[in-house]
Amino acid sequence: MDIYSEKQQIATAIRTLKAEKATLGLVPTMGALHKGHLALVKKALEENDKVCVSIFVNPTQFDNPDDLAKYPRTLEQDLELLKSLSDSILIFAPTVEAVYEGRTLSEKFHFDGLEHEMEGKFRIGHFDGVGTIVKRLFDIIQPDKAYFGEKDFQQLQIIKKLVEIHKIPVNIVACPIYREPSGLAMSSRNTRLKPDYKKAAPFIYKTLKTAKKQFGTKSAVNVTQWVEKQFASHKLLKLEYFIIADETSLKTVTRKSSTKQYRAFIAVYADDIRLIDNIALN
Ligand code: PAF
Repeated sequence: MDIYSEKQQIATAIRTLKAEKATLGLVPTMGALHKGHLALVKKALEENDKVCVSIFVNPTQFDNPDDLAKYPRTLEQDLELLKSLSDSILIFAPTVEAVYEGRTLSEKFHFDGLEHEMEGKFRIGHFDGVGTIVKRLFDIIQPDKAYFGEKDFQQLQIIKKLVEIHKIPVNIVACPIYREPSGLAMSSRNTRLKPDYKKAAPFIYKTLKTAKKQFGTKSAVNVTQWVEKQFASHKLLKLEYFIIADETSLKTVTRKSSTKQYRAFIAVYADDIRLIDNIALN
């Protein structure tokens, strides 16, 4: 398995692959790999000759310096996991300097308003940071396909918009949320949950599943109020937002229409750890 930390080196290796007409998939990650990431890598391996996994904790997408400092970094373990999967994997694990060249700043993006909803309201500048790193990765790696999990559904829609607006020749492949047996959506941040919070966290998905059932007969407002009530009395989990939105525009639903696809989105604090999840409603 080849590991690259410099842009020029990986760009040269990719030029060779492209000359051989090999197809290339990209799985962008921030490391601390879990089964959800590995599911993305396996799908990418099925659909491409070679797969590049990028491992980079991108500083510009963190609005909270403490979250950036505490973000789990487990490079050795990540490499072992990937090595055990296939030898058709290339790793790109650059330093901050290699990516940002002394200017650790985001570009400014407009994603047709998608960036102002949900996470955009609570994590200022987050999607500029995501757009900056993903655009740079597409530029360096030139993948045919890139794989993103639906846990970060808003990120997925924004990346599709980035590709459309900037006419980037890559297919974005959406992959379903991978859950722990308890129902908790897999996330690198789960490793930081203290035992009581880890035990409490599956309540998030349980509530989403009940909200989905209720959405069949109740209005979006009623379902939202019901969810808010469940968390108001919860001792460990603090609700940041619960929103039922149109899947395409990500705008909060005011009146249901039979022609639209809806999804419920949630962000919850378990102690100082922020967890997000979502569920398709129709
Ligand atoms: O989803 C993530 O892990 C990150 O936002 C991504 C896409 C790797 C960009 O840093």
